[in-house]
Amino acid sequence: MSDPLHLKISHVTRRFQVNGESLTALDDVSLDIAEGEFVTIVGASGCGKSTLLRLGAGLDTATSGSITHAGKPVTEPSLDRGIVFQEPRLFPWLTVARNVALGLENSGHSKADKKRLVEEHLELVGLSGFAKAYPHQLSGGMAQRAGIARGLVNRPDVLFLDEPFGALDAITKARLQDELQEIWAKERITMVLVTHDVDEAAYLGDRVVVMSPRPGRIREIVPVDLPRLRARTSPALTEVRNRVLESLNATTHSSPSLRAVSPGGGQRPADARPAIAAVR
Ligand SMILES: Nc1ncnc2c1ncn2[C@@H]1O[C@H](COP(=O)(O)OP(=O)(O)OP(=O)(O)O)[C@@H](O)[C@H]1O
Ligand SMILES: [Mg+2]
Repeated sequence: MSDPLHLKISHVTRRFQVNGESLTALDDVSLDIAEGEFVTIVGASGCGKSTLLRLGAGLDTATSGSITHAGKPVTEPSLDRGIVFQEPRLFPWLTVARNVALGLENSGHSKADKKRLVEEHLELVGLSGFAKAYPHQLSGGMAQRAGIARGLVNRPDVLFLDEPFGALDAITKARLQDELQEIWAKERITMVLVTHDVDEAAYLGDRVVVMSPRPGRIREIVPVDLPRLRARTSPALTEVRNRVLESLNATTHSSPSLRAVSPGGGQRPADARPAIAAVR
């Protein structure tokens, strides 16, 4: 049964002390995420996206405001809330399989089940042949995929993903987006995914949260009322993407390189890619 108050972020402000000065990373951010919802978050570098995910996962504490998960205050990390970090954060002294197995620590699974789950998830992210490799033997994208496997392996109630596909080639990225969406559809894990890729945000999200920087605030929430699986090039999705880009554009001072693409045009203008790069 869907719980509309599943993950409730209420008036969250997070300040940091940097060189004796107070820096407001997040300012009065409120967001209610329903059970099983897929929320994507976009915003310029430094606008507080990772800070928000860390707070949601219970890895950090808000200066003011509150976060609750299933009605309980989030005060510490929990197996119910997984996180895929922006950097893979693998332990260099553990093999890839042991790193992924860390996602199952204290999960109560038998040793045989753990082994099976780790194998299945390594396969899912295309790392089957690297179970016994060490992190330094992986490329950046491979390490990132190992991080994704670790986040998914325990099937948490909520999974926070911080730019999980940022270091991947286009084909692997598209495949993993679809795999993630399939797992989400099958298991109804609530997903909160941060990305700099506006196409990805529109393709995967039920809603796209657009954040503005200094201080980090929610500028707009763009609903994506389109059935899945969505056609990546459909005019309707392009329209959503344009709206997100326009909103982002307004947060990052108008620049001609951030012009939106006309829906249904088929042809992508040459400046479309720099537009996405420009929000980094
Ligand atoms: N532990 C910390 N101590 C001091 N300042 C911090 C800390 N963590 C984050 N910040 C500051 O908070 C702001 C938001 O950082 P955050 O990492 O959340 O941004 P982001 O939106 O994830 O950026 P990016 O897209 O580059 O990953 C930045 O100005 C950053 O310098
Ligand atoms: Mg970040």
